Amino acid sequence: MVHGKFITLEGGEGAGKTTQATYIKEFLQSRGKRVLLTREPGGSLGAELIRRLLVDRTAYSWDPLTEYLLFTAARRDHILKTIKPALEEGIWVICDRFYDSSIVYQGYAQHVPSEMLTTIYDFISEGIIPNLTLILNISPEEGLIRAHKRSNHEDRFEQMSLQFHQQIRKGFLEIAKSHPERCVVVNAEEEEYQIRDTIIKVIESHLF
Ligand code: TYD
Repeated sequence: MVHGKFITLEGGEGAGKTTQATYIKEFLQSRGKRVLLTREPGGSLGAELIRRLLVDRTAYSWDPLTEYLLFTAARRDHILKTIKPALEEGIWVICDRFYDSSIVYQGYAQHVPSEMLTTIYDFISEGIIPNLTLILNISPEEGLIRAHKRSNHEDRFEQMSLQFHQQIRKGFLEIAKSHPERCVVVNAEEEEYQIRDTIIKVIESHLF
């Protein structure tokens, strides 16, 4: 039985992950793959319930460790109910944000110790590691302008300071450096279709 591949999209606010995830889905389907598009926090019934506690503008102000535990609880449900069964069926899974977002938002920017992040993740992950992580790199100034245009109430993190978002950008670039075997940084300041073409080339060379 051939397992599906697991592709994650990461990056700061307004980097265009959601749009690119849809293009990736179309490309993979054109290559005859069965594809599931999902997101974090969310992607399963339980995880979507927890999402509300985390991203709404009116959400409670959790301390960073509690926040990580909530993201982790959502991730566990998402892995068990959605990601793992799909991969086992041979479906390719594209996920808009995953564990690297926790490393950066809760670890790098809010100082939850990395041993704690990795130890807990090892327990809950069922051994799932992305085959490819695309890090969409954009200046926070540009990204936040784009993100604000989406006007919804899920902007608790967008409302953090510019300095916070600069940390986020740096954090993702550090992850890319430490995991070159699965991470590729993509310039997300280019035109949408140029970014799509770059991503398709990366997928072709890494996963086909
Ligand atoms: P979302 O509306 O999905 O934002 P985006 O469109 O930028 O992906 O909200 C998710 C927010 O949660 C986003 O600001 C990043 C944050 N986040 C974490 O802090 N830790 C995590 O582990 C994940 C998955 C997301």
